[in-house]
Amino acid sequence: MQELLDKRIVLGLSGGIACYKSAELVRRLVEQGATVDVVMTDAATHFITAVTMQALSGRPVFIDAWDPRIPNNMAHIDLSRGADAILIAPASADFMAKLVQGRADDLLSTLCLARACPLLVAPAMNREMWSAAPTQRNVSQLAQDGVKVLGPGSGQQACGETGDGRMLEPLQLLAEMVAFFQPKLLKNKRVLITAGPTVEPIDPVRVITNRSSGKTGYALARAAFEAGAQVTLISGPTALPEPYGIPCIQVQTAQQMHDAVLAHVKEQDVFISVAAVADWRVANVASDKIKKDPKAKTTHSPNLEFALNPDILATVAALPNAPWCVGFAAETERLSEYAHDKRKRKGIPMLIGNLAQHVMDADHTTVSIFDEQGEHPLPTSAKQDIARQLIAAIAKRLPGNA
Ligand code: CTP
Repeated sequence: MQELLDKRIVLGLSGGIACYKSAELVRRLVEQGATVDVVMTDAATHFITAVTMQALSGRPVFIDAWDPRIPNNMAHIDLSRGADAILIAPASADFMAKLVQGRADDLLSTLCLARACPLLVAPAMNREMWSAAPTQRNVSQLAQDGVKVLGPGSGQQACGETGDGRMLEPLQLLAEMVAFFQPKLLKNKRVLITAGPTVEPIDPVRVITNRSSGKTGYALARAAFEAGAQVTLISGPTALPEPYGIPCIQVQTAQQMHDAVLAHVKEQDVFISVAAVADWRVANVASDKIKKDPKAKTTHSPNLEFALNPDILATVAALPNAPWCVGFAAETERLSEYAHDKRKRKGIPMLIGNLAQHVMDADHTTVSIFDEQGEHPLPTSAKQDIARQLIAAIAKRLPGNA
Protein backbone atom coordinates (compact mmCIF):
# COMPACT_ATOMS: atom_id res chain seq x y z
CA MET A 1 0.00 0.00 0.00
CA GLN A 2 1.48 3.37 -1.03
CA GLU A 3 0.84 5.84 1.75
CA LEU A 4 1.46 9.09 -0.17
CA LEU A 5 -0.22 8.26 -3.47
CA ASP A 6 -1.24 11.41 -5.43
CA LYS A 7 0.60 13.69 -2.99
CA ARG A 8 2.88 16.36 -4.43
CA ILE A 9 5.62 17.45 -2.09
CA VAL A 10 8.24 20.17 -2.49
CA LEU A 11 11.30 19.00 -0.60
CA GLY A 12 13.53 21.96 0.23
CA LEU A 13 17.15 21.45 1.31
CA SER A 14 19.02 24.22 3.11
CA GLY A 15 22.72 23.95 3.97
CA GLY A 16 23.72 21.32 6.53
CA ILE A 17 25.47 17.98 6.74
CA ALA A 18 22.05 16.34 7.27
CA CYS A 19 21.53 16.83 3.51
CA TYR A 20 22.90 13.30 3.15
CA LYS A 21 19.78 11.99 4.92
CA SER A 22 17.57 13.88 2.44
CA ALA A 23 18.76 11.54 -0.33
CA GLU A 24 17.23 8.61 1.58
CA LEU A 25 14.18 10.70 2.44
CA VAL A 26 13.37 11.54 -1.18
CA ARG A 27 13.67 7.86 -2.01
CA ARG A 28 11.22 6.89 0.75
CA LEU A 29 8.73 9.60 -0.26
CA VAL A 30 8.82 8.47 -3.90
CA GLU A 31 8.52 4.80 -2.84
CA GLN A 32 5.26 5.73 -1.11
CA GLY A 33 3.84 7.24 -4.30
CA ALA A 34 4.60 10.95 -3.76
CA THR A 35 5.73 13.25 -6.57
CA VAL A 36 8.70 15.13 -5.13
CA ASP A 37 10.11 18.39 -6.50
CA VAL A 38 13.47 19.08 -4.89
CA VAL A 39 14.55 22.69 -4.39
CA MET A 40 18.01 23.37 -2.93
CA THR A 41 19.67 26.47 -1.56
CA ASP A 42 23.12 27.27 -2.85
CA ALA A 43 24.53 26.19 0.55
CA ALA A 44 22.82 22.78 0.26
CA THR A 45 24.69 22.09 -2.99
CA HIS A 46 27.95 22.14 -1.00
CA PHE A 47 26.74 19.08 0.95
CA ILE A 48 24.99 17.00 -1.74
CA THR A 49 24.71 17.39 -5.49
CA ALA A 50 21.59 18.25 -7.46
CA VAL A 51 22.41 15.24 -9.66
CA THR A 52 21.91 12.87 -6.70
CA MET A 53 18.59 14.45 -5.79
CA GLN A 54 17.45 14.45 -9.42
CA ALA A 55 18.32 10.78 -9.89
CA LEU A 56 16.40 9.81 -6.73
CA SER A 57 13.35 12.03 -7.30
CA GLY A 58 13.25 11.33 -11.03
CA ARG A 59 12.48 15.02 -11.60
CA PRO A 60 14.43 18.20 -12.35
CA VAL A 61 15.96 19.89 -9.31
CA PHE A 62 15.67 23.67 -8.86
CA ILE A 63 18.25 25.92 -7.19
CA ASP A 64 18.21 29.25 -8.97
CA ALA A 65 15.35 31.78 -8.86
CA TRP A 66 16.35 32.74 -12.42
CA ASP A 67 16.13 29.18 -13.79
CA PRO A 68 15.20 29.58 -17.49
CA ARG A 69 13.59 26.07 -17.59
CA ILE A 70 10.34 27.48 -16.18
CA PRO A 71 8.58 29.12 -19.14
CA ASN A 72 7.05 32.09 -17.27
CA ASN A 73 10.15 32.42 -15.05
CA MET A 74 8.04 32.08 -11.93
CA ALA A 75 9.45 28.93 -10.36
CA HIS A 76 8.59 30.29 -6.90
CA ILE A 77 4.89 30.37 -7.81
CA ASP A 78 4.64 27.37 -10.10
CA LEU A 79 6.40 24.92 -7.79
CA SER A 80 4.39 25.72 -4.70
CA ARG A 81 0.96 26.06 -6.33
CA GLY A 82 0.60 22.43 -7.27
CA ALA A 83 2.06 21.19 -3.97
CA ASP A 84 0.19 19.55 -1.09
CA ALA A 85 3.00 20.51 1.29
CA ILE A 86 6.50 21.96 1.43
CA LEU A 87 8.96 20.12 3.67
CA ILE A 88 12.28 21.81 4.48
CA ALA A 89 14.72 19.05 5.47
CA PRO A 90 17.25 19.95 6.62
CA ALA A 91 16.16 23.35 7.91
CA SER A 92 19.27 25.21 9.05
CA ALA A 93 19.20 27.84 11.82
CA ASP A 94 19.79 30.49 9.18
CA PHE A 95 16.96 29.28 6.95
CA MET A 96 14.49 29.24 9.86
CA ALA A 97 15.53 32.81 10.74
CA LYS A 98 14.82 33.76 7.14
CA LEU A 99 11.36 32.16 7.28
CA VAL A 100 10.56 34.07 10.47
CA GLN A 101 11.58 37.36 8.89
CA GLY A 102 9.74 36.63 5.65
CA ARG A 103 12.89 37.15 3.60
CA ALA A 104 12.90 36.02 -0.02
CA ASP A 105 16.39 36.26 -1.43
CA ASP A 106 16.67 32.88 -3.13
CA LEU A 107 14.31 30.42 -4.80
CA LEU A 108 13.57 28.30 -1.70
CA SER A 109 12.84 31.21 0.66
CA THR A 110 10.79 32.96 -2.05
CA LEU A 111 8.61 29.94 -2.73
CA CYS A 112 8.05 29.43 1.03
CA LEU A 113 6.83 33.04 1.30
CA ALA A 114 4.70 32.71 -1.83
CA ARG A 115 3.22 29.35 -0.83
CA ALA A 116 -0.45 28.47 -0.72
CA CYS A 117 0.09 25.11 1.05
CA PRO A 118 1.24 23.91 4.50
CA LEU A 119 4.92 24.23 5.44
CA LEU A 120 6.84 21.73 7.58
CA VAL A 121 10.43 22.12 8.74
CA ALA A 122 12.89 19.53 10.07
CA PRO A 123 15.60 21.47 11.93
CA ALA A 124 19.18 20.18 11.77
CA MET A 125 22.07 21.88 13.54
CA ASN A 126 24.67 21.74 16.29
CA ARG A 127 23.20 21.49 19.81
CA GLU A 128 24.44 24.95 20.84
CA MET A 129 22.92 26.51 17.72
CA TRP A 130 19.65 24.72 18.50
CA SER A 131 19.48 25.84 22.14
CA ALA A 132 20.62 29.42 21.36
CA ALA A 133 17.99 31.99 22.32
CA PRO A 134 17.50 33.37 18.78
CA THR A 135 16.88 29.86 17.37
CA GLN A 136 14.41 29.01 20.13
CA ARG A 137 12.62 32.34 19.56
CA ASN A 138 12.45 31.56 15.84
CA VAL A 139 11.13 28.03 16.41
CA SER A 140 8.27 29.26 18.59
CA GLN A 141 7.52 32.05 16.11
CA LEU A 142 7.38 29.51 13.28
CA ALA A 143 4.95 27.37 15.29
CA GLN A 144 2.81 30.49 15.93
CA ASP A 145 2.88 31.21 12.19
CA GLY A 146 1.35 27.78 11.56
CA VAL A 147 4.56 26.05 10.44
CA LYS A 148 4.87 22.46 11.69
CA VAL A 149 8.26 21.81 13.29
CA LEU A 150 9.33 18.14 13.10
CA GLY A 151 11.88 17.14 15.75
CA PRO A 152 14.73 17.65 16.05
CA GLY A 153 16.11 14.39 17.38
CA SER A 154 18.84 13.98 19.92
CA GLY A 155 22.15 12.08 19.87
CA GLN A 156 25.62 12.11 18.34
CA GLN A 157 26.18 15.02 15.97
CA ALA A 158 28.42 15.30 12.91
CA CYS A 159 30.58 17.84 14.78
CA GLY A 160 31.38 15.19 17.42
CA GLU A 161 29.17 16.69 20.14
CA THR A 162 26.08 15.00 21.57
CA GLY A 163 22.72 16.63 22.17
CA ASP A 164 19.53 18.03 20.59
CA GLY A 165 19.54 19.25 17.01
CA ARG A 166 19.91 16.14 14.83
CA MET A 167 17.53 16.01 11.90
CA LEU A 168 14.92 13.26 12.33
CA GLU A 169 15.76 10.05 10.47
CA PRO A 170 14.28 9.59 6.97
CA LEU A 171 11.78 6.95 8.16
CA GLN A 172 10.69 9.19 11.03
CA LEU A 173 10.15 12.09 8.62
CA LEU A 174 8.23 9.74 6.32
CA ALA A 175 5.99 8.72 9.27
CA GLU A 176 5.43 12.42 10.05
CA MET A 177 4.50 13.19 6.43
CA VAL A 178 2.07 10.26 6.23
CA ALA A 179 0.52 11.34 9.57
CA PHE A 180 0.31 14.95 8.39
CA PHE A 181 -2.15 14.02 5.64
CA GLN A 182 -4.42 11.89 7.85
CA PRO A 183 -7.61 13.47 9.28
CA LYS A 184 -7.23 14.37 12.97
CA LEU A 185 -10.21 12.30 14.12
CA LEU A 186 -8.86 11.75 17.65
CA LYS A 187 -7.17 15.09 18.20
CA ASN A 188 -6.03 15.51 21.82
CA LYS A 189 -7.60 12.19 22.86
CA ARG A 190 -5.59 9.81 25.01
CA VAL A 191 -5.53 6.24 23.75
CA LEU A 192 -4.07 3.22 25.54
CA ILE A 193 -3.39 0.11 23.43
CA THR A 194 -2.18 -3.38 24.31
CA ALA A 195 -0.56 -5.50 21.60
CA GLY A 196 1.31 -8.73 20.96
CA PRO A 197 1.25 -11.94 23.00
CA THR A 198 2.06 -12.47 26.66
CA VAL A 199 4.57 -15.13 27.68
CA GLU A 200 4.12 -17.18 30.84
CA PRO A 201 7.16 -18.98 32.27
CA ILE A 202 7.19 -22.73 32.95
CA ASP A 203 10.78 -22.74 34.23
CA PRO A 204 13.75 -20.41 33.62
CA VAL A 205 14.10 -21.57 29.98
CA ARG A 206 10.57 -22.48 28.87
CA VAL A 207 7.40 -20.47 28.31
CA ILE A 208 3.78 -20.82 27.22
CA THR A 209 2.57 -18.15 24.84
CA ASN A 210 -0.15 -17.21 22.37
CA ARG A 211 0.45 -16.77 18.66
CA SER A 212 0.43 -13.05 17.89
CA SER A 213 2.75 -11.00 15.66
CA GLY A 214 1.60 -7.71 17.21
CA LYS A 215 1.06 -6.26 13.73
CA THR A 216 -2.58 -5.29 14.25
CA GLY A 217 -1.96 -3.64 17.62
CA TYR A 218 1.05 -1.70 16.30
CA ALA A 219 -0.91 -0.67 13.20
CA LEU A 220 -3.72 0.63 15.44
CA ALA A 221 -1.22 2.53 17.59
CA ARG A 222 0.19 4.16 14.46
CA ALA A 223 -3.28 4.97 13.09
CA ALA A 224 -4.32 6.55 16.42
CA PHE A 225 -1.08 8.61 16.45
CA GLU A 226 -1.77 9.73 12.87
CA ALA A 227 -5.29 10.72 13.94
CA GLY A 228 -3.78 13.15 16.46
CA ALA A 229 -4.17 11.04 19.62
CA GLN A 230 -1.67 10.85 22.46
CA VAL A 231 -0.98 7.12 22.35
CA THR A 232 0.59 4.76 24.90
CA LEU A 233 1.41 1.24 23.72
CA ILE A 234 1.85 -1.67 26.12
CA SER A 235 3.34 -4.59 24.25
CA GLY A 236 4.26 -8.19 24.84
CA PRO A 237 7.36 -9.49 23.01
CA THR A 238 7.18 -9.04 19.21
CA ALA A 239 9.71 -8.78 16.38
CA LEU A 240 8.42 -5.30 15.45
CA PRO A 241 10.34 -2.04 15.93
CA GLU A 242 8.80 0.36 18.45
CA PRO A 243 6.62 2.76 16.47
CA TYR A 244 7.98 6.31 16.07
CA GLY A 245 6.41 8.95 18.31
CA ILE A 246 4.62 6.48 20.61
CA PRO A 247 5.83 5.69 24.14
CA CYS A 248 6.03 1.90 24.34
CA ILE A 249 6.11 -0.16 27.54
CA GLN A 250 7.44 -3.69 27.05
CA VAL A 251 6.05 -6.48 29.23
CA GLN A 252 6.26 -10.26 29.31
CA THR A 253 3.46 -11.82 31.36
CA ALA A 254 -0.29 -11.18 31.55
CA GLN A 255 0.14 -10.02 35.14
CA GLN A 256 2.78 -7.47 34.06
CA MET A 257 0.51 -6.29 31.24
CA HIS A 258 -2.39 -6.00 33.70
CA ASP A 259 -0.25 -3.95 36.13
CA ALA A 260 1.09 -1.69 33.36
CA VAL A 261 -2.42 -1.08 31.99
CA LEU A 262 -3.81 -0.21 35.43
CA ALA A 263 -0.86 2.13 36.05
CA HIS A 264 -1.63 4.04 32.82
CA VAL A 265 -5.41 3.78 32.45
CA LYS A 266 -6.30 6.88 34.46
CA GLU A 267 -7.39 9.80 32.27
CA GLN A 268 -7.40 7.71 29.10
CA ASP A 269 -10.27 8.37 26.70
CA VAL A 270 -10.03 5.05 24.86
CA PHE A 271 -8.63 1.61 25.73
CA ILE A 272 -8.03 -0.77 22.81
CA SER A 273 -7.20 -4.26 24.00
CA VAL A 274 -5.56 -5.98 21.03
CA ALA A 275 -3.13 -8.18 22.98
CA ALA A 276 -3.48 -11.94 22.80
CA VAL A 277 -3.34 -12.36 26.58
CA ALA A 278 -2.61 -15.86 27.86
CA ASP A 279 -5.69 -16.95 29.78
CA TRP A 280 -3.68 -19.13 32.14
CA ARG A 281 -0.26 -18.98 33.73
CA VAL A 282 1.69 -21.84 35.23
CA ALA A 283 1.01 -21.87 38.97
CA ASN A 284 3.95 -24.11 39.87
CA VAL A 285 6.76 -22.35 37.95
CA ALA A 286 9.98 -24.32 38.56
CA SER A 287 12.89 -22.28 39.87
CA ASP A 288 15.38 -24.54 38.04
CA LYS A 289 15.17 -26.05 34.60
CA ILE A 290 12.87 -29.08 34.61
CA LYS A 291 15.02 -32.10 33.66
CA LYS A 292 13.95 -35.23 31.83
CA ASP A 293 14.19 -38.31 33.99
CA PRO A 294 17.06 -40.30 32.34
CA LYS A 295 15.84 -43.55 33.96
CA ALA A 296 12.26 -43.26 32.70
CA LYS A 297 11.75 -45.67 29.78
CA THR A 298 8.43 -44.17 28.66
CA THR A 299 7.78 -40.50 27.91
CA HIS A 300 7.89 -38.59 31.13
CA SER A 301 5.96 -35.32 31.21
CA PRO A 302 6.00 -32.79 34.02
CA ASN A 303 2.81 -31.94 35.89
CA LEU A 304 1.95 -28.33 35.17
CA GLU A 305 -0.69 -26.65 37.27
CA PHE A 306 -2.47 -23.62 35.88
CA ALA A 307 -3.95 -20.50 37.44
CA LEU A 308 -6.32 -18.12 35.68
CA ASN A 309 -4.81 -14.79 34.61
CA PRO A 310 -6.71 -11.56 35.27
CA ASP A 311 -8.99 -10.46 32.43
CA ILE A 312 -7.42 -7.07 31.72
CA LEU A 313 -10.15 -5.78 29.41
CA ALA A 314 -13.03 -6.79 31.70
CA THR A 315 -11.19 -5.25 34.68
CA VAL A 316 -10.71 -1.92 32.85
CA ALA A 317 -14.31 -1.90 31.54
CA ALA A 318 -15.59 -2.31 35.12
CA LEU A 319 -13.56 0.62 36.52
CA PRO A 320 -15.40 3.72 37.66
CA ASN A 321 -14.76 6.38 34.94
CA ALA A 322 -13.59 3.62 32.59
CA PRO A 323 -12.26 4.74 29.19
CA TRP A 324 -14.29 3.79 26.13
CA CYS A 325 -13.24 0.15 25.66
CA VAL A 326 -12.63 -1.78 22.46
CA GLY A 327 -11.91 -5.51 22.51
CA PHE A 328 -10.59 -7.95 19.93
CA ALA A 329 -11.54 -11.58 19.42
CA ALA A 330 -9.71 -14.02 17.17
CA GLU A 331 -11.95 -17.08 16.83
CA THR A 332 -11.58 -20.23 14.77
CA GLU A 333 -15.35 -20.82 14.24
CA ARG A 334 -18.83 -19.25 14.86
CA LEU A 335 -17.33 -15.75 14.80
CA SER A 336 -20.61 -13.78 14.96
CA GLU A 337 -22.06 -15.76 17.85
CA TYR A 338 -18.86 -15.73 19.96
CA ALA A 339 -18.06 -12.08 19.21
CA HIS A 340 -21.53 -10.80 20.19
CA ASP A 341 -21.43 -12.86 23.41
CA LYS A 342 -17.89 -11.74 24.25
CA ARG A 343 -18.71 -8.05 23.78
CA LYS A 344 -21.64 -8.32 26.17
CA ARG A 345 -19.77 -10.49 28.66
CA LYS A 346 -16.87 -8.03 28.85
CA GLY A 347 -19.26 -5.05 29.17
CA ILE A 348 -17.75 -3.10 26.25
CA PRO A 349 -19.37 -1.00 23.50
CA MET A 350 -17.29 -2.33 20.59
CA LEU A 351 -15.44 -5.51 19.69
CA ILE A 352 -13.46 -6.33 16.55
CA GLY A 353 -13.67 -9.96 15.51
CA ASN A 354 -11.86 -12.06 12.95
CA LEU A 355 -11.19 -15.67 12.05
CA ALA A 356 -7.70 -16.38 13.35
CA GLN A 357 -6.73 -18.99 10.75
CA HIS A 358 -7.19 -16.42 7.93
CA VAL A 359 -4.99 -13.64 9.27
CA MET A 360 -2.34 -15.00 11.64
CA ASP A 361 1.05 -13.40 10.83
CA ALA A 362 -0.34 -11.96 7.57
CA ASP A 363 -0.09 -8.34 6.43
CA HIS A 364 -3.73 -8.35 5.33
CA THR A 365 -6.75 -8.98 7.50
CA THR A 366 -10.52 -9.39 7.36
CA VAL A 367 -12.47 -8.10 10.35
CA SER A 368 -15.99 -7.26 11.47
CA ILE A 369 -17.01 -4.61 13.96
CA PHE A 370 -19.54 -5.79 16.56
CA ASP A 371 -21.52 -3.18 18.50
CA GLU A 372 -24.98 -2.60 19.95
CA GLN A 373 -26.39 -2.28 16.40
CA GLY A 374 -25.00 -5.62 15.20
CA GLU A 375 -22.18 -6.81 12.93
CA HIS A 376 -20.45 -4.51 10.42
CA PRO A 377 -17.98 -6.40 8.17
CA LEU A 378 -15.07 -4.48 6.59
CA PRO A 379 -13.59 -5.56 3.25
CA THR A 380 -10.24 -7.43 3.38
CA SER A 381 -7.37 -4.96 3.32
CA ALA A 382 -3.81 -4.25 4.51
CA LYS A 383 -3.57 -4.19 8.33
CA GLN A 384 -2.58 -0.50 8.30
CA ASP A 385 -5.58 0.38 6.15
CA ILE A 386 -7.93 -1.64 8.38
CA ALA A 387 -6.37 0.06 11.42
CA ARG A 388 -7.23 3.50 9.97
CA GLN A 389 -10.81 2.38 9.27
CA LEU A 390 -11.12 1.07 12.82
CA ILE A 391 -9.78 4.33 14.29
CA ALA A 392 -12.38 6.20 12.18
CA ALA A 393 -15.10 3.84 13.47
CA ILE A 394 -13.96 4.41 17.07
CA ALA A 395 -13.81 8.20 16.56
CA LYS A 396 -17.36 8.16 15.18
CA ARG A 397 -18.74 6.22 18.14
CA LEU A 398 -16.70 7.89 20.92
CA PRO A 399 -19.15 9.92 23.03
CA GLY A 400 -18.46 13.66 22.92
CA ASN A 401 -15.93 13.39 20.07
CA ALA A 402 -16.66 16.16 17.59
N1 CTP B 1 -8.30 -10.15 27.17
C1 CTP B 1 -7.75 -9.54 28.29
N2 CTP B 1 -7.28 -10.30 29.31
C2 CTP B 1 -7.33 -11.64 29.26
C3 CTP B 1 -7.89 -12.28 28.13
C4 CTP B 1 -8.35 -11.51 27.11
O1 CTP B 1 -7.69 -8.31 28.33
N3 CTP B 1 -6.87 -12.34 30.29
C5 CTP B 1 -8.84 -9.30 26.09
C6 CTP B 1 -8.13 -9.43 24.77
O2 CTP B 1 -7.10 -8.45 24.63
C7 CTP B 1 -9.23 -9.19 23.77
C8 CTP B 1 -10.48 -9.71 24.46
O3 CTP B 1 -10.15 -9.74 25.85
O4 CTP B 1 -9.47 -7.83 23.52
C9 CTP B 1 -10.93 -11.06 24.04
O5 CTP B 1 -9.89 -12.00 24.20
P1 CTP B 1 -10.15 -13.55 24.00
O6 CTP B 1 -8.93 -14.30 24.40
O7 CTP B 1 -10.72 -13.77 22.64
O8 CTP B 1 -11.33 -13.74 25.03
P2 CTP B 1 -11.48 -14.59 26.28
O9 CTP B 1 -12.29 -13.78 27.24
O10 CTP B 1 -10.16 -15.07 26.78
O11 CTP B 1 -12.38 -15.78 25.74
P3 CTP B 1 -11.98 -17.22 25.11
O12 CTP B 1 -10.48 -17.37 25.26
O13 CTP B 1 -12.75 -18.17 25.91
O14 CTP B 1 -12.44 -17.15 23.69
